[in-house]
Amino acid sequence: MTTELTWLGHGSWSIETNGHTILLDPFLNESPTSPVKAEDVQADYILVSHGHFDHVADVAPVANRTGATVVAAFEVSAWFESQHGVKNTVGMNLGGGIDLPFGRVTMTLAHHSSQLPDGSYGGNPGGFLLKLTDGTIYFACDTALFLDMQLIGKAGIDLAVLPIGDLFTMGPADSIEAIKLIQPRRVAPAHYNTWPPIAQDSEAWADSVRANTEAEPVVLDPGGKITL
Ligand code: NI
Ligand code: MN
Repeated sequence: MTTELTWLGHGSWSIETNGHTILLDPFLNESPTSPVKAEDVQADYILVSHGHFDHVADVAPVANRTGATVVAAFEVSAWFESQHGVKNTVGMNLGGGIDLPFGRVTMTLAHHSSQLPDGSYGGNPGGFLLKLTDGTIYFACDTALFLDMQLIGKAGIDLAVLPIGDLFTMGPADSIEAIKLIQPRRVAPAHYNTWPPIAQDSEAWADSVRANTEAEPVVLDPGGKITL
């Protein structure tokens, strides 16, 4: 069974693997670039990287409609339980992993912040390493460049998803350095072109990836798909 990823714009992804549907950071109804609405997506699991609005906005409505399990930093999953009535959650923290029915999920470091929309403390921001039956995906999520990405790369990354928007996360130039550290087989950009302050030229980025790294760039439009 192959794994298929769909970019829902910004930092949002839907992953179909082994008959399971996983959402990452669903920001749909208020995203200018999402091709879908929160009412229309399915999920068995929802991974949440940190507490910012553009990552948590549609988590509770989707979780409460579908019964999906929310997987997030302990503080964020507890907030969904207490403030939004989400019934199924897994709270974790940096460096921790859990075996779920579709594969192993590890929460990786991210250098960012994580306050929740109501001002609640959201713990540490993270990324996700997904070891699936047919490959390994690293979602850096919202982060600056950091040297420990080299350690994450030791897992053998088939697909890395990196932010390139700049301003709130690393930008295109630092993403090239990140690719050199991670050494993924393929790399996809995210967290850009949602709003003018994070507009980027993804084709120029892809040219730079090809010129400076061994990785194959995969540039999608929102709604576009990658088969692992
Ligand atoms: Ni953020
Ligand atoms: Mn963000």
